[in-house]
Amino acid sequence: MLEKLNDLELEFLRQIREIDQIDQLNDLRVKLLGRKGEITQILRGLKEISADQRAEVGRVANEIKERIESKLQQRSGELKCLALDERLRAETIDVTLPGIPFTRGGKHPLTQIREEIQDIFIGMGFTVAEGPEIELDYYNFEALNVPKDHPARDMQDSFYISEDVLLRTHTSPVQVRTMEAMAPQLPVRIIVPGKVYRKDDDATHSPMFQQIEGLLVDTAINFAHLKAVLMTFAHRIFGEEVQVRYRPSFFPFTEPSAEMDISCVNCGGEGCRVCSYTGWLEILGAGMVHPQVLRYGGYDPEKVSGFAFGMGIERIAMLKYGVNDLRLFFDNDQRFLEQF
Ligand code: DAH
Repeated sequence: MLEKLNDLELEFLRQIREIDQIDQLNDLRVKLLGRKGEITQILRGLKEISADQRAEVGRVANEIKERIESKLQQRSGELKCLALDERLRAETIDVTLPGIPFTRGGKHPLTQIREEIQDIFIGMGFTVAEGPEIELDYYNFEALNVPKDHPARDMQDSFYISEDVLLRTHTSPVQVRTMEAMAPQLPVRIIVPGKVYRKDDDATHSPMFQQIEGLLVDTAINFAHLKAVLMTFAHRIFGEEVQVRYRPSFFPFTEPSAEMDISCVNCGGEGCRVCSYTGWLEILGAGMVHPQVLRYGGYDPEKVSGFAFGMGIERIAMLKYGVNDLRLFFDNDQRFLEQF
């Protein structure tokens, strides 16, 4: 009986070795170890064997079963490796085939312009400061020399959260916030990019838009410094050929106040629809910081002076790119955005 078992094991091992397909190996597994498998039958047949041989035969049969199981396992691993090898050998990669194209994202045109403006001022020694979009009435108006009933508040009607808290209408509140934090250090030389909010909505106004504020405070700063910095800015962003002019204006937080125009980027100053046939385009407000604002910021207007300016980023982008409807920047239509 034991000899017969040994012969059977050798026969089974031979069969396993000869198999070279994984599914045939599975068939063999069923044939040997399945419910009606040959080894299973032998183990079942043990009860017919005389009692004195049963223990020995049972032990050997079980050992054989285990060896066969592990051989099947091993062969299955080998066959899987062989199959993978074969597949890899058959698979060739043509490196000259064109790649799969994918569309790359880009920066929004307004972000591009904001960064360009920032870089110009950073190049002149300014650093970037920021402030909250939900602002105290105090910083948005009071500390900028705009008391509660001042008519200048009408121009910047806004979204109030409570009587004392609103969505800031401009980036100017960061002037006083920064001065408060820095005083008495000099110089204060910041630009402030950020979102602002107003109750306006048409082709050239949006209830949310972005501004860049500028503030320079130091000893003996005068209007010539303002002109030099802003002319440099205009030339860098619109080109050396643009002309610059200043018109007197009014802002409660500057004295004197001015508006800066550039020669029309569309017609070069001849007069066209873009510049309403004036040859000029208004691009920012500016002026010498009002003594009262310096005081609110913690500086002595007898000892220091400064200039400030503020511009709308969307407006600069519209002029630079020749876009006539502000809302295009916010629709986020890919066909529009891809052009920048
Ligand atoms: N804050 C003004 C506005 O939103 C713009 C401005 C004008 C800012 C003159 C300034 C300035 O700093 O000096 O209309």
